[in-house]
Amino acid sequence: MKVTKKTFEERRVQSINPKTAQLLIDQVSHELYNHNLYRTFANYFAVKGLHKLEEYYISRANEELTHHQWIVDRLNYADVSYKYPEIPAVNVDIEDEEDTFLQTVDKEIETTALIYNIVETAEKEKDWETVKWLQDTLVDEQTEEEHISRKFLKIARQDTDWVTKEDYILSEYQAGEEADGQ
Ligand SMILES: [Fe+2]
Ligand SMILES: [Fe+2]
Repeated sequence: MKVTKKTFEERRVQSINPKTAQLLIDQVSHELYNHNLYRTFANYFAVKGLHKLEEYYISRANEELTHHQWIVDRLNYADVSYKYPEIPAVNVDIEDEEDTFLQTVDKEIETTALIYNIVETAEKEKDWETVKWLQDTLVDEQTEEEHISRKFLKIARQDTDWVTKEDYILSEYQAGEEADGQ
C-alpha cells in the first residue's frame, strides 16, 4: 500500500476531502435555513397567541443552530478553509397550525437525505473519519429529529383544541430534551 503524492499534498492542508468538505459547507447553509424556517413558525404561533408552540419552535430552531455549530467546529478542526454560504430566504405558505407540523416532518426527511448523501460521498472518497463523525453526530440526531417531528404531527392532528395540544407538545418535547440531558 503506497500513499499517493496527491494524498500527502491534500492531507498536509486539510483532513477532509474537498468534495465531502464542500457538501459539509453546503450543509451549514441547510441547517441555518432550518433554523430560520422554525423561527418563522415560532413567529406564526406568537402572532396567533399560542405561545407554547412559539417556545417549541424557538427550541427546535436552537437545535438547528447547534447542528450548524457541530459542522463548523468539525471543519475548523480539520483545517478546512471556507466562507459562510448563502442562506435562501424563507419562502413558505402556512395554511394552518397543523401545516407547520407537516412541513417540519418533510423538512427533517429532506435533511436526513442530504446527510445520507454526505455519508455516501465520504464513503466513496474513503474518508472514514468523516463517515464515523457523521454517524455519531448528524445521522444519530436525524433519528431523533424525525421521530419527534412525526410524534408531534400526530398530536397536531388530534381532534381537540390548540391550547390543549400546545400544552402537550411543549411538555413532551421538554421531557424528551431532559431525558437526553440537553
Ligand atoms: Fe438540523
Ligand atoms: Fe434534536
